Amino acid sequence: MAATTRDQALFRRRFPAGSADNPVNIPGDPVRVTSPADCWIGAVQILEFGTMGTLYFKRLRLELELGGSQFPAPVLPAGFEWQAWSADLLMRHAVTKHESFRAELDARIFPCFRDTAGCLDLMSEIAQRATFLPPSTWLISCRFPDGTTDDCATIQGIVQSGGWGAIQNVGVVPEYRGRGLGRALMLKCLAGFQQAGVPRVYLEVTASNLPAVQLYRSLGFCLARTTYRAVEESEAPPVEEASPPHSLAVPGAAESP
Ligand SMILES: CC(C)(COP(=O)(O)OP(=O)(O)OC[C@H]1O[C@@H](n2cnc3c(N)ncnc32)[C@H](O)[C@@H]1OP(=O)(O)O)[C@@H](O)C(=O)NCCC(=O)NCCS
Repeated sequence: MAATTRDQALFRRRFPAGSADNPVNIPGDPVRVTSPADCWIGAVQILEFGTMGTLYFKRLRLELELGGSQFPAPVLPAGFEWQAWSADLLMRHAVTKHESFRAELDARIFPCFRDTAGCLDLMSEIAQRATFLPPSTWLISCRFPDGTTDDCATIQGIVQSGGWGAIQNVGVVPEYRGRGLGRALMLKCLAGFQQAGVPRVYLEVTASNLPAVQLYRSLGFCLARTTYRAVEESEAPPVEEASPPHSLAVPGAAESP
């Protein structure tokens, strides 16, 4: 749900511009930075605040120029495999998306992440777009010594108006995090955009999502705009508990940080 005019009016009344407690930017007022040093101003400031039953979640639009950029080749740890996009992977992307997001703050903001059906709708909507980009859409799965596999991570790419590549829903299932899959997903997705001749990409991230913000920052993304997403408090239930790790024998676990 985007901030409405009413939300913005309430916000301006509650936090007049220039007041000491204005938590940075009024919804809808864009911020453009001019140097890398400016990029992260505000990224770790007040991130969630409410007025009259409405919560405002700070969101960052991050952008990256691809022209001439050279990125390292994406490398997966031993035991992990790329699954290139095909329509029969739709449900597997949706399930992996749900596993990746259901216990995260984003599931409070975007109801579709709260169940597999919502993730399937979202995934279907992305895959049906005329500008859906299969070379930027990947699933990572893990192959166990007994030959069984488990899906661990998902990412999608689409091309927006103006030639912008839009990176969608980068997600790594909790028990597979911290071993380089998120970075590999991003690099694979960026390579897909470059291969398709897309000159620049963007994504949106909740400002308090520090692992994601750090990942994007380390790849060179810069802040282009800050917005606030208004969510009625009653429609933003606390996120459910993440499931406990379902395997202790993940390939590469021994050498993970
Ligand atoms: C963000 C996310 C994709 C990272 O995946 P991951 O596989 O754990 O990331 P990697 O192991 O590849 O780490 C890549 C970088 O991310 C950053 N990072 C990852 N975990 C971090 C943490 N707990 N704290 C701070 N930075 C972290 C670091 O910069 C790291 O680089 P480094 O290993 O050189 O320090 C994962 O945490 C996730 O799926 N989160 C839930 C879904 C989500 O919020 N997605 C983002 C939507 S915009």
